[in-house]
Amino acid sequence: MKALVCEQYGPVEDLKYRDFPDPEPAPGEILVAVKAIGVNFPDGLLVEGKYQARPECPFAPGSEISGEVVGLGEGVIDFAVGDRVLALTTNFGAYAEQITLPSSAAYKMPASMDYETGAALLAASGTAHHGLRQRGRLQAGETLVVLGAAGGTGIAAVQIGKAIGARVIAVCSSEEKLAFAKSQGADDGINYSEQDLKTAIKALTDGRGADVVYDAVGGDAFDACSRAMAWDGRLLIVGFASGRIPELPVNLTLVKGYSVVGVFWGQFTQNEPEAHAANMRELFQWCEAGKVKPIIDRTYKLADGIEAIKYVTGRNVMGKVVITP
Ligand SMILES: NC(=O)c1ccc[n+]([C@@H]2O[C@H](COP(=O)([O-])OP(=O)(O)OC[C@H]3O[C@@H](n4cnc5c(N)ncnc54)[C@H](OP(=O)(O)O)[C@@H]3O)[C@@H](O)[C@H]2O)c1
Repeated sequence: MKALVCEQYGPVEDLKYRDFPDPEPAPGEILVAVKAIGVNFPDGLLVEGKYQARPECPFAPGSEISGEVVGLGEGVIDFAVGDRVLALTTNFGAYAEQITLPSSAAYKMPASMDYETGAALLAASGTAHHGLRQRGRLQAGETLVVLGAAGGTGIAAVQIGKAIGARVIAVCSSEEKLAFAKSQGADDGINYSEQDLKTAIKALTDGRGADVVYDAVGGDAFDACSRAMAWDGRLLIVGFASGRIPELPVNLTLVKGYSVVGVFWGQFTQNEPEAHAANMRELFQWCEAGKVKPIIDRTYKLADGIEAIKYVTGRNVMGKVVITP
C-alpha cells in the first residue's frame, strides 16, 4: 500500500510518499481501507520531533480516519467486513491507504455521515465536547469565549457551545475568520489582531468577564483571558497553537475565584471509557440533529499530504482539512 512516511524526524517537507508494508489485523483488530484522514495541528509537530510522543521511524503520522472494514482479526465479533467506521488510531499510522486498529477504537458511522465528515469529527469535536462538558461544566446561559474560533477544535467549540445553550464569543485573527465563526453560530466576535482582548471581553460581558474560556492558542491570548474571567469561571487549557506556553500569576485565580483546568481528550478516552462512550452518543445525536457538523475547508490527495499539513500549521485553515487516499 501507499503511505506518507516519516523516515527520520525533521521538516514536514521530508515526508516520503512511498510503498509501505500492508498491515495484517492481529487478534481483536480490524483492517480498514482508509477513505479519509483528518489533518490535525499536532501532525506537523510529530514529524518534526516536537510532540510529546516519538514513535520509532519509519512511521506514518496522523491519528484520525474513516474507512471501510476489509478484514477482521481473530475474535472480532462487533464489526463485519463492509462496515463504515471512524476511529482515532492508537499509535498514529493514519496517513496510509490501510490501517489496523483494535476494534474497541472504532465506531460505526451514522448512515447519514459521509467519509470526509467522519474523518474530521473525532479529534476536534471530541476535544471540544469533553472540554466544555466535563472540564468546563458549561451551562446554558453562560458566556463562552473561544480562542482561535475558526480553527478545527475552535469551530467545534463554537458549535458545541451553542448546542449546550451558551452565549458564544468567537475570538479570531481576521474578519474573514470571524465571519466564518459567526456562520457557525457565534453570537459575537473579537478580532484580536486589532482589538485589545481583555478590554473587548469585558466590554461584551458588562464588565463581568467570561464564565468559560476555551483556549487552544495560549501565549498572549491566554494572558489577556487570565485577566478577563468572571467569578467562578473556568479557563480551559487545550493547546498552544501560538507556540508559547504561558505562565500564570496564580493570585489572579484567587481574586476572581476562577479555575484553570487542563483538557487532554486522548487520555480522557482511555481513563474514563464510560464517560467517553456517553459523550460519543451525545456527539452523534448532535450530528444527526445538525447541531454539530465538521466544516471541510480543503481536501487533499495522500500524495499531497505535505501541503495539507503545511496549510493547517500555517494558520490558514477554517474548519478542517481532510486527506482522501
Ligand atoms: N488538549 C487536547 O486534547 C487537544 C486536542 C486537539 C487539539 N489540541 C491542540 O489544540 C490546538 C489547536 O488545534 P487545531 O487542530 O484546532 O488547530 P488549527 O485548526 O490549526 O487551529 C488553531 C488556531 O490557533 C490560532 N493561532 C494563533 N496563533 C497561531 C499560530 N502562530 N499558528 C497557528 N495557529 C495559530 C489560529 O486562529 P487565529 O488565526 O484566529 O488566531 C488557528 O485557527 C493545537 O495546539 C492542538 O495541539 C489539543
